Amino acid sequence: MTTVIREPAEFRRACDDARRASGRVGLVPTMGALHAGHLSLVDEASRRADFLAVTIFVNPLQFAADEDLQRYPKTLEHDLQSCQQRGVDVVFAPDTDAMYPDCFQTQVRVAELAKPLEGVFRPTHFEGVTTVVAKLFNLTGPCAAVFGRKDYQQWKVLCRMVGDLDMPIEVVGCPIVREPDGLALSSRNRYLSEADRHRALAIVEGLRAAHDAWEHGERKPSVLENAAATPVEAVFDRIDYVAAVDPETLEPSATSPERLLIAAAAHLGSTRLIDNVVLGEDPRP
Ligand code: PAF
Repeated sequence: MTTVIREPAEFRRACDDARRASGRVGLVPTMGALHAGHLSLVDEASRRADFLAVTIFVNPLQFAADEDLQRYPKTLEHDLQSCQQRGVDVVFAPDTDAMYPDCFQTQVRVAELAKPLEGVFRPTHFEGVTTVVAKLFNLTGPCAAVFGRKDYQQWKVLCRMVGDLDMPIEVVGCPIVREPDGLALSSRNRYLSEADRHRALAIVEGLRAAHDAWEHGERKPSVLENAAATPVEAVFDRIDYVAAVDPETLEPSATSPERLLIAAAAHLGSTRLIDNVVLGEDPRP
C-alpha cells in the first residue's frame, strides 16, 4: 500500500522509521506526470533499496518566468496508481508553501557544470534543481537516488553537488526510455500535435546520424555535431543547441575523444524538447 504524505516533517519521520526498520531507502524525485521513463527509475531504485520513496513536486524554483510552470501537466491520481502498482512505499507530494515558506532564502549552486548547454538558455534552472533536490535528500536520507539520463546535465550537476557537499548518497543515472520510433519519453511530449510529434523525430534522427558516423570511425567533434544538427535544423522551429562536448566536463572535447556527448535542445512551437546520446558508450538511440 502506497502512503501519500504532504507534510515535510511527516515524510522525514516515515523515512527515518523505514531506515531504522528496514535499512536502505531509495528515492526517485519527480515532477509527476509519470510515464514509463519514470517507472524505469522506480524499478532501478527498488533494486537498490528496501523502502521506496517517490516525490512529486513541480518545483517553481527551476522554472523561469517565461517557462511552462503553469501548464506543466498534473496527473496526481494516475501517478499514485502507477506508484501503487510499482510497490512504492511512500509518495511525498508537498504543496509549494510547505517546501518554500515565506522566510525561505537559501540556494544551492553548482558553479561550472551548470553553465554550458542548458545553463546558457536557462541560467537559473539548475540552482532551482539543486536547491530542491538538496532539500529532498535532507528530508529523505536516501542511500540511493535515481534520475534519468535524458536530463544528462542535471544528472552530472547532481553528482557534483553530492560529491562536493559530502552527501552520503549514490546518485544513479538510468538510460533514456524511448518510444518504439525512438522519441525519448517526456512529460512534455503530450503538448505536441500529431504533426509536431512526427517532426520531433528529427532530434533522434540527428543523434542516430552522429552515432552511425561514430560507428564508422568518425571522431572529429565538429563533424559529429554537424551530423546531429542537420536534421534538427531542417525541421525544428528554433534550436537552443546541438553540441558535441566532453561527457564529464560538458566543455568542448579533445580532438579525438574516447567518448563524446551529443546533446540537443530545440523548440517545436511552444514545446521545448531535449535529448542526448553518449557516443562510445550508449547504444544507437
Ligand atoms: O528531473 C526532474 O523531474 C526535476 O528536475 C527534479 C529532479 C525532480 C527536481 O525538481
